[in-house]
Amino acid sequence: MAKPIGEITRGTTGHNRLRRADRWVAAAHGRLLRGADRPLVVDLGYGASHVTTLEMFLRLRRVCPSVEVVGIEIDPARVAAAGPHACPGLSFALGGFELPVDRPPLLVRAFNVLRQYDEARAWEYWEMLRRRLAPDGVIVEGTCSEVGHRAVWVGLDRAGPRTLTFSARFDAFERPSDLADRLPKTLIHRNVPGEPVHAFLRDFDRAWAVSAPFAAYGSRRRWIAAAETLAATWPVAVRPPLGGRSRWRLGEITVSWAAVAPL
Ligand SMILES: C[S@@+](CC[C@H](N)C(=O)[O-])C[C@H]1O[C@@H](n2cnc3c(N)ncnc32)[C@H](O)[C@@H]1O
Repeated sequence: MAKPIGEITRGTTGHNRLRRADRWVAAAHGRLLRGADRPLVVDLGYGASHVTTLEMFLRLRRVCPSVEVVGIEIDPARVAAAGPHACPGLSFALGGFELPVDRPPLLVRAFNVLRQYDEARAWEYWEMLRRRLAPDGVIVEGTCSEVGHRAVWVGLDRAGPRTLTFSARFDAFERPSDLADRLPKTLIHRNVPGEPVHAFLRDFDRAWAVSAPFAAYGSRRRWIAAAETLAATWPVAVRPPLGGRSRWRLGEITVSWAAVAPL
């Protein structure tokens, strides 16, 4: 077997850390998975424990009972430790960005993996992963806080990045731009004046500030009001499955990648 592409990095993970992203994947891509013959999902870089891969498998099985999930890790010791937790439909394999699976995956999740590479590499590996996808396949690549209460992820398809999603527990931030520390590697260094992602977060903070009167009804209501305000000037998703009140009430907001892409 050829050497897996990538490097072993820190294996930090934990129960429910990726719950917010799993919930979004089930809502945004459940139909895609259900419509496929033998849908294959890859969880790339699952870390020191198999737990987030198992959780993803259980959550996706609820929306697509035929889904198969393969956890891929570049650290052989982590693959050996996960092995005993395999079950029908869930397996673990040694590998890297080359994705050693028997057919093109319909969905690849890579969370808290690319942030440990440099920016140029992150773009390069996005492209490599995109080329491995099934024709209508998608990638969810993101970063989150240690316990997963603040998360940001990019949705990509074979053509490139499509969406950027922010997701937070209402007690895990003071203002929306606090989520900037979870931006994916391709954006984290672009959160500076003059770059679109910086303007987006500035306007999100303003929308949050002017929505303060709604705080009397709770942070959820305030977030919804801020999302509505922001949607007047930014291409924020306003209808399900990516947007609208059913998503905003979860502390989520999705904006078109084109609007926040680096200049
Ligand atoms: C911080 S952990 C993330 C674990 C889990 N995804 C999470 O978010 O909780 C990153 C893991 O990705 C693995 N990794 C890094 N580069 C990889 C690659 N190219 N292919 C597979 N795994 C990789 C590292 O070995 C590490 O175990």
